[in-house]
Formats: sequence, structure tokens, C-alpha cells
Amino acid sequence: MTAPLIDPFARTIDYLRVSVTDRCDFRCTYCMSEHMTFLPKRDLLTLEELDRLCSTFVRMGVKKLRITGGEPLVRKGIMTFFEGMSRHIGAGLDELTLTTNGSQLDRFAQPLADAGVRRINVSLDTLDADKFRAITRWGSLDKVRRGIDAARAAGLRVKINTVALRGFNEDELFDLLAWCAEGDMDLTFIEVMPMGDMGDGTDGTLRLDQYWPLKDLRARLAERFTLTELAYRTGGPARYFEVAETGQRIGFITPLTHNFCESCNRVRVTCTGELYMCLGQEDMADLRAPLRASEADAGLEQAIRAAIARKPKGHDFDYTRETVTGQMTRHMSHTGG
Ligand code: GTP
Ligand code: 5AD
Ligand code: SF4
Repeated sequence: MTAPLIDPFARTIDYLRVSVTDRCDFRCTYCMSEHMTFLPKRDLLTLEELDRLCSTFVRMGVKKLRITGGEPLVRKGIMTFFEGMSRHIGAGLDELTLTTNGSQLDRFAQPLADAGVRRINVSLDTLDADKFRAITRWGSLDKVRRGIDAARAAGLRVKINTVALRGFNEDELFDLLAWCAEGDMDLTFIEVMPMGDMGDGTDGTLRLDQYWPLKDLRARLAERFTLTELAYRTGGPARYFEVAETGQRIGFITPLTHNFCESCNRVRVTCTGELYMCLGQEDMADLRAPLRASEADAGLEQAIRAAIARKPKGHDFDYTRETVTGQMTRHMSHTGG
């Protein structure tokens, strides 16, 4: 292993999120536009290039690799990539995992488990089939639930990611909690970040109006349940609490109300090889050019180190009902969150 990746704020970067495709079979309103233009295939890193890139990061100290998209499981041949990456588990890499919308899990859960994946995050914002179709613009909740069942049957631990949306899933808070408790799944709530379209243009909702600060959500939970903060950490941004009455674990990802940038340990690479040093900033470095320039990895390693040396302190996201700061025109799907 080479020297670890340390940024200007003395943060060690050991978590890499890799978006393997910009495509998705859903169009969640807060994540994508209804009519997205997707990249031509020739612009994408090949699976071999993705393997080489991730392997280089592992050599440089990355311990946690999360595959994202778009929807990672719609990338053709993706299982070959997972199978390849599994050689690093226990040999530098502690965790190989993915964040998925769940739509393809019925097919892929077992192969993922066979490739050494132990834990997956599934995005799901509602348990109501009609609302699910509305927020994903056409997705089938049934299919996702079948996928989640397949994942659990394959022995994968499932964590549900729910974006907290005022006026959308406020009324389902306790149902979501009960459903996750029943299925022995962790549940993480996420504050909606000002990225991409700020109003979805289809149902008249504005992101600003949908923003539901998690301190309000937590207060709602506390009316019925006793929450105790846990020391448990996954290496991701969530803070976890135990619900005494049900024994389940719930997480809170609070970029707005409780900024976690100080302990940031991650960077992300897009499917075209752009390295974004921060989710909430525009600066990025092109890794595709050094990757394609030489079969030796020295240039690539140098480009990665140069990029980490300019990792910013954090995002500038902030909202009130009337104003937004730090907004990104880039859609969340570009970097996979
Ligand atoms: P665990 O390994 O289970 O902790 O997963 P994770 O939270 O690291 O990854 P996941 O893909 O489930 O991310 C959940 C949400 O957290 C997404 O909405 C991401 O956009 C958001 N998120 C993840 N990392 C960051 C980050 O570095 N900054 C910000 N602002 N949000 C992040
Ligand atoms: N704000 C917060 N989370 C978002 N996600 C997608 N777009 C946003 C947004 N604007 C979430 C998805 C998924 C994760 C990768 O990112 O729901 O769980
Ligand atoms: Fe790290 Fe940027 Fe996310 Fe803050 S917003 S946690 S600095 S990636």
C-alpha cells in the first residue's frame, strides 16, 4: 500500500463512492429530471477501467467502496465488476457495497452476496404504491419489495434510505419505522439537498417546501419513542439512534441541520471518471485522461493525490423557506449521492 490519502483538513480519505452509470430505471423527482439526456456509451469508463481505478484507490488506502449510479444494477455486466472487486475484500478493502433503488435486486441479490457484499442500502421513500409511482415517476413498489425480500433471503443486511419530504412521507413516519422493525432493517432518514431541479415541474412541488429538517422529524418520533444515540458508525455520514421500544436502529443524515463535513472521509467518482472531492462543490478532477494515458498507474495516482490536496472544507447548502444557498445545478444522480 502507498501513503494514505489525507486532505488539507487532516481528514483521511478511505471511502470511495463510484457511480458506474448515469442511467436509472426510475426518475425520482428530487434526484433527476423527467427528461434526462444520458451519456453516450463511449464516454463511460469501461468495466476494466473502473476495476483499475478502484484497485488504485484501494492501494491508496480506500477501505470502503460503495457502488452507486444512477442505478448501479442497470449497468451491463456489473456483476463481473463486483466479482472482480471481491478480490480486494480482506486485502485492503473492508467493505464492498452498493446503494440501489431495489428494482433489480430479485435478480442480483444472490450474485451480490456471492461476490462478498454483506450489506446494501435501498432507497425507498414511501410504502404507498401510488405515491411510490409518483415520486419515482413510474416505479413499482411491489417489484422493489420483492427485491428487498430476495436480498434478505440471500443473507444481505438491508438498510432503507428514506429522504424526508414534508407533505409527502410525513404521514408515513411510524409505518416506515414499523415496517423496518418487522423486517429487521435499519432505517436512515436523509435531509433533501438542494441539487438539480428545485421544483419538479410535474406536480407543482418545490424542493424548498418539501424540506423537512430532521430535528423536526426526530421530535415527532420522540413523542412516541425513546431514542438513545449510539456509538455505532458505518463510515458514512449517518448518526444512529436506538429506539428503546422496538430495539431497532435508525439513522439521520443531516447535511443541513447538523453538518458532518468536519469528519468527511469520502470522495466520489462518476461513470466518466470525474473525481468529485465534495458532493456539495463543483470542483472535480478528470481521472479518465491519466487512466487512458498510460498502462502504468503512476500518473493516475498523482492525479488522485493532486485532487485530494484540494478537497474543500465542505458544502455550502443552506435554506430558509425563501432562499437557498450553496445549490448545485448538478443532479444527485451524476455523483450517486
Ligand atoms: P452507510 O455505509 O450505510 O453509512 O451508507 P452511506 O450513508 O455512506 O451511503 P448512502 O449511499 O446510503 O448515502 C445516503 C445519503 O447520504 C445520500 O443521500 C447521500 O447523498 C448522502 N451522503 C452520503 N455521503 C455524503 C456526503 O459526503 N455529504 C453529503 N452532504 N451527503 C452525503
Ligand atoms: N437530497 C438528499 N438525498 C438524495 N438522494 C437523491 N437525491 C437526493 C437529494 N436531492 C438520495 C437517494 C438515495 C441516495 C443515494 O441519495 O434517495 O438514497
Ligand atoms: Fe464531505 Fe463534502 Fe459531504 Fe461535507 S458535503 S461530508 S465535505 S463530501
